This record gives sequence, C-alpha cells and structure tokens, in this order.
Amino acid sequence: MSTTKTIHLKHRPNGMPVLTDFDFTTSEIPELLQGELLLSTKFVSVDPYLRGRMIDTPSYTPPFKLNEPIVSGLIAEVVESNSNGLSKGDFVSGMLAWKETQVAKADGLMKVDPDRAPLSAYLGVLGMTGLTAFLGLTEIGKPKKGETLVVSGAAGAVGSVVGQIGKILGLHVVGIAGTDEKVEMLKSDFGFDEGINYKSTENMTKAIAKACPDGVDVYFDNVGGEISDAVLFNINKFSRTVNCGAISVYNNKETPKSVSVHPFLIRKSSSMQGFVIIDFADKHYEGMIQLATWLMEGKIKNTETIREGFEQIPQAFLDLFEGKNKGKMIVKV
Ligand SMILES: NC(=O)c1ccc[n+]([C@@H]2O[C@H](COP(=O)([O-])OP(=O)(O)OC[C@H]3O[C@@H](n4cnc5c(N)ncnc54)[C@H](OP(=O)(O)O)[C@@H]3O)[C@@H](O)[C@H]2O)c1
Repeated sequence: MSTTKTIHLKHRPNGMPVLTDFDFTTSEIPELLQGELLLSTKFVSVDPYLRGRMIDTPSYTPPFKLNEPIVSGLIAEVVESNSNGLSKGDFVSGMLAWKETQVAKADGLMKVDPDRAPLSAYLGVLGMTGLTAFLGLTEIGKPKKGETLVVSGAAGAVGSVVGQIGKILGLHVVGIAGTDEKVEMLKSDFGFDEGINYKSTENMTKAIAKACPDGVDVYFDNVGGEISDAVLFNINKFSRTVNCGAISVYNNKETPKSVSVHPFLIRKSSSMQGFVIIDFADKHYEGMIQLATWLMEGKIKNTETIREGFEQIPQAFLDLFEGKNKGKMIVKV
C-alpha cells in the first residue's frame, strides 16, 4: 500500500499556536471503494477559524482530534475515480485533510472549473470567505446606499471583499488594517474611502470619528477586542454590527476584558449579531453566482497571498495571526 505526506495536530495550542503543535507524518492511501475518488491536493486554505477547532471545546464544528489530520478547504485534482459524476482530470473543492494525496467520498465535494476562474479563487472570493463577506454584509448588515460601513481585518480575505461589496452598494467604506501598506492597498486597489492603521493610531475612537463624519451605520467585525470597542463609541441610531470574527482574542489564555456593549446598544437602538457561514447554506449558490458575476465584471478584485509547498501549510496558518497575508492566504502544493 502506498503512503502520502500528512499533517496531524500534535498538541492543542496554548495561546499563540506554534510549529511544534503540528506533526509531519505519513499515512497509508487505501484502495478506492465505490463512490470514492483518489485526489491530489493542489491548493490548501488556511483560516483563522481553524484555531477554534484546535481546542477541545465543542463548537458549531467538532474539535480536531490529536494525532489525526487537520481538515480545511482544499482544491484537489481527481487522479482516479470510482464515482459516476467525476472523472480523472476534474478539479474539486471541499473540506479535505492536510494530505498530499487522499481518498475521499465524491459526495460533499463540488466540481470547480479552472476555465471560469483561477482554481485558488474557489477557496477565496468564490469560496467560504467570499460568501461570508457577501452574506454577512447583506443578510445581517442590511446596508442602505449612502450609509457608512466600517470593516476591521479589512485587508484580509473576508474584509477585502466586504469593503469592495460596500463600494458596489454605494456606501462610505472605512477599513481598519495593521500596516500602512495595507491601508494604502485598501484605498488604491479596493476603492475604500478611508483606511486606518490600528497599530500606529493612538486614539482609535477619534480616528474612526474622523473617518466617519456621519457616524457608523454598519460595522463588519472580523477582529473583536479593543478595535471593536473603539467602533462602539461611533455607532449611529439603528446601526448594525455583524460579528463575523474575533481574531484578536482567539489566542487569549484568559477571557479578555472589554467595554460593556449594553449601554451603547440601548442608547443607539443598535443591534449586534453573530453568525457562521453555514447558517446561510441555502443562499450559498446564489451568493456564489453574484460574486462570480462581480468578479467577471471587474467590480471585485481577488487578492491572494500564495505560499508554495505542502510543508508551508502550518507556517502559513501561523502567519495569519501576524498579519502576513494580504487577501486570502493559500498554500499551493
Ligand atoms: N463567521 C464566519 O462564518 C466566518 C467565516 C470566515 C471567517 N471568519 C472570521 O473572519 C475573520 C477574518 O477571516 P479571514 O479568513 O478573512 O482572515 P484574514 O483576515 O485573511 O487573516 C487574518 C487577519 O487578521 C488580522 N489580525 C491578526 N491578528 C490580529 C489582531 N490581534 N488584531 C487585529 N487584527 C488581527 C491580520 O491583519 P492585520 O495586518 O490587519 O492585523 C490578518 O491578516 C476571522 O476572525 C475569522 O475567524 C468568520
């Protein structure tokens, strides 16, 4: 029986994850059964939410087991098929193991077309992060033309798409990111109206007030923590906060102290709603069609940071917490 390179979770991270939390090993490739595919990994998505699956706490997805492969969004090529719907040479997208080669059931995988979009785009703007941006903003943020949208984590996979959709919908868009280069990219590449570097800004509350002269109507929150506290001081009557992510606290060892949101929400009749993208599963297909249309029309840019090589997967994941990506972080295998 042949074997393949595989990455296991070795330790549950304590605080910031480190390379030694991962184990490079080999695993056996079993024989193909009916309905199964032999797949060769081409692109791997690394995502901040995977951090949540590395701890032993039940969530909307079960925790990863120790000494078993990590699973994330992958694009793979069909090398051999025992399934009617897919043939050798087809490409599929799905939740698959961090293995160079693997056998998987065809059910649950989606065929993707490399002639319609670059394969990696199906992990970003046309995949989970693009859908999160589109459905989180439109279904929860409910933006109206002329309103002000603030996006944190604005230069990342979700945030960069949120801001660009905000411009398509006619909003005043303000992005918050961690370097001057990223802030410049938000404005010059993605058309944001204003950008704030949270690492070099002393008073975020004032900076947000300056960038949002009419206050904040929609806050798309990817980071939580102190940045989001500062936004609260600037929210408008009937504003909406989309609680998408809280990367600034994912590695905390203790529960963070934060401003109490309740008086702000009461005073401003404001709402806050968390979500996970699977909540909108019935809208994924129409969302993908809309995103693909905007991409083809050139209204949305697909920005990626691509790392090369299977061995780079854990480091690429760690680098998300250091802000080393612009747009979607992807590993090309
Ligand atoms: N609810 C859902 O269904 C759903 C789905 C997908 C993603 N998410 C969440 O959405 C957020 C963005 O995900 P993504 O895939 O698009 O990742 P991403 O934004 O592409 O990458 C993470 C970015 O977060 C920023 N960051 C890291 N540490 C930070 C800190 N301490 N404070 C502030 N910013 C920090 C970094 O940018 P800077 O250089 O700007 O710091 C980094 O580039 C994550 O919180 C993720 O968990 C939620």
